[in-house]
Amino acid sequence: MQARAAILWELNSPWSVEDVELDDPAPSEVLVRMTAAGLCHSDEHLVTGDIPIALPAVGGHEGSGVVEKVGEGVTKFEPGDHVVMSFIPSCGHCRWCSSGHQTLCDLGQHLMMGVPISNGVHRMRSKGGQGLGPMSLVGCFATHQVVHEASVVKIDKELPLDKAALVSCGVTTGWGSAVHTAGVQPGDVVVVVGIGGIGSNAVQGAKIAGARWIVAVDPVESKREFAKRLGATHTAPDVYSAFSLVNDMTWGQLADSAIITVDVARGELVAPVMSLVRKGGNVVVTAIAPFAQSQVNLSLFELTLWHKQLRGSLFGGGNPRADIPQLLKLYQSGQLNLDDLITRTYSLDEINEGYEDMREGKNIRGILTFD
Ligand SMILES: NC(=O)c1ccc[n+]([C@@H]2O[C@H](COP(=O)([O-])OP(=O)(O)OC[C@H]3O[C@@H](n4cnc5c(N)ncnc54)[C@H](O)[C@@H]3O)[C@@H](O)[C@H]2O)c1
Ligand SMILES: [Zn+2]
Ligand SMILES: [Zn+2]
Repeated sequence: MQARAAILWELNSPWSVEDVELDDPAPSEVLVRMTAAGLCHSDEHLVTGDIPIALPAVGGHEGSGVVEKVGEGVTKFEPGDHVVMSFIPSCGHCRWCSSGHQTLCDLGQHLMMGVPISNGVHRMRSKGGQGLGPMSLVGCFATHQVVHEASVVKIDKELPLDKAALVSCGVTTGWGSAVHTAGVQPGDVVVVVGIGGIGSNAVQGAKIAGARWIVAVDPVESKREFAKRLGATHTAPDVYSAFSLVNDMTWGQLADSAIITVDVARGELVAPVMSLVRKGGNVVVTAIAPFAQSQVNLSLFELTLWHKQLRGSLFGGGNPRADIPQLLKLYQSGQLNLDDLITRTYSLDEINEGYEDMREGKNIRGILTFD
């Protein structure tokens, strides 16, 4: 069939929106008509080369849609089902899936290869016949996409599909960074560094987990104000002013945890964020660093003698098949704010404008909608 998709042909170039050819779903795959896709910073990492993948590629890993066709052997989905993408697939059977760590599923190894899990043959091709690899195996900057059933999660048909798209990456990642990886407890003091699509949901996660004080750090004033609407109790424009604030408000005890959700993780940010947390506290790195970066500023003395922990967090460190439906229930009961996270919607053709707005710090989340 014909579809339309945003293609990245080469590094540091704009997304090119083009007509493309899409095959029918192979066994274990589904054809999804996309309804919405979030403009997460991770797709920007493809453009800059921070996340290396084979090009050309179709971007997008945060999206929702409706199943239109299913391939042979698919039993858990049928045409008409409403779904969101899971940017890490979960097979349900590997060591990690069967022990409650779906974000570590062995199928994740296919992510960097950029070709479908089933047989490694591209389903989407440009007009010139070139195979187009899908970002995170889901490539949802497209009107339609064929994805493996391990990469989709069925959702309640009553839910608005544009809001639901957000739990496909940003909400689940941010919320899980606080709830699962930082392990926020009632009464905790939590610092969230970087209030974009991910950080604003780390704030929401910390609030739902019962944090007493939540300090939102971002150089952009409107982001700090937005964080307050989601439950932040204090704000700071940078980590150094956050230190004086946290030091004063805790009488020198410091924060229980700090979560790094800035646009690009940099080694030099780690030491000042580590010094925001107390003895035995933890720092979570959710933001993604350039692939080749290996230098980190860190006081090993402080790490050991203050018994601190530094942890990475992928997709919130939980189980997308359990967390996504739970988060959507929290939305339905009014405890999780998804409505205000969407700053602006764009058409697929306006994708470059959407990313320009993200770079300029205008959006909490911009989303593409497909009509
Ligand atoms: N680990 C995962 O599974 C996962 C999943 C999705 C996204 N990510 C990553 O999370 C990061 C955030 O993504 P996003 O979509 O929210 O990005 P975004 O661009 O929407 O937000 C980043 C925010 O960080 C702020 N910022 C930049 N430098 C800062 C600093 N020094 N101190 C405080 N704030 C600062 C910016 O003003 C902006 O508000 C990206 O690196 C993205 O790739 C990781
Ligand atoms: Zn993302
Ligand atoms: Zn698995």
